[in-house]
Amino acid sequence: MSLVFNNSQTKLSSYLTQKIINSQITNIKRNINLTSRNNSIKVNLPSIKLNNEKKILSTNLSVSKRFNSSSKEKGRKKVTLNTLNSLYKKGEPITMLTAHDYPSGLFVEKAGIDSCLIGDSLGMVTLGYNSTNPVTMDDMISHCKAVCRGAKSPFIICDMPFGSYEASTEDAVRNAVRLIAEGNAEAVKLEGGKEIAETIRAITKVGIPVLGHIGLTPQRQSSLGGFRVQGKTVEDAKSLLEDALALQDAGCFGITLEAMPREVASFITSQLNILTIGIGAGNGCSGQVLVQQDMLGSFDKFVPKFCKVYADVSGIAINAIKNYVKDVKERTFPNNEKNCYKMKSGEDKKLEEYIKSLKK
Ligand code: KIV
Repeated sequence: MSLVFNNSQTKLSSYLTQKIINSQITNIKRNINLTSRNNSIKVNLPSIKLNNEKKILSTNLSVSKRFNSSSKEKGRKKVTLNTLNSLYKKGEPITMLTAHDYPSGLFVEKAGIDSCLIGDSLGMVTLGYNSTNPVTMDDMISHCKAVCRGAKSPFIICDMPFGSYEASTEDAVRNAVRLIAEGNAEAVKLEGGKEIAETIRAITKVGIPVLGHIGLTPQRQSSLGGFRVQGKTVEDAKSLLEDALALQDAGCFGITLEAMPREVASFITSQLNILTIGIGAGNGCSGQVLVQQDMLGSFDKFVPKFCKVYADVSGIAINAIKNYVKDVKERTFPNNEKNCYKMKSGEDKKLEEYIKSLKK
């Protein structure tokens, strides 16, 4: 949280008082009563003794709206697995969105998303690889931790990256535990059908909730022949249903259904008693997920057919940066009044005299 004093509103002027206020501010989240009003926050500091006088310190702090992030301040309730399950039971669509860092986690928090996925799409849309396969466990842990600092309320699910669960169930359990213990995730997601059911069973046995992922499984895009829609024939649809049932039986709390005809996804959803999250699978699933950069228009390579683009974040960012370039070239930024620090009173004159004296 970034706090800036509005000096004209600061009732106490002495240096000592200022120091006390500063030290109080470091504890602001823990012990001070904050009342947000018009982007300005009234802070009632505890009473202190000054010059034998008991005074209540009170100051107005301008806090940039952007940093008003804690779920407590916003009044958002923490979303748990129970919350997701009760949305599922009520038939209320579950919202899920990916995030890969602190700012994107904050967006998810502030927009009221139910569940945040730290997907290994990280590899493509954030790290710039051509596929998700180069993403490592350390990448996932580091990005998951960053997201959690911004996304305090959504239920946090972290992808197990390619190579972290295929070799043995021991590997899978060890790596799932790392995502929870080190990454702060609350659940993990694995790609695959019946062939990974035993792995999922082992992970859920140690108490880690698992979201399955079938249909288009990007980690296997080479063997699928690229990013291709799945379940286009009845035979394929039956095989997807078998996978879904195997994952449900292995203990998944839900299954992601990616890139399949909506009839197939709706049918699978109707045959399960756990929730489904669709991506490119129509609106008959229990919820929807998108990759944040796709829907915000900030990924440059391609936009999947199933994605709706809600903003042109790249356009906004590039325009803003072009304006900055122009301002710097024209020396209109930094602005002397708005963006510069002032010398102490009288010191500017003294500096001028000193510079003059050097020229003599
Ligand atoms: O990696 C990811 O972001 C995902 C979503 C596409 C579901 O798995």
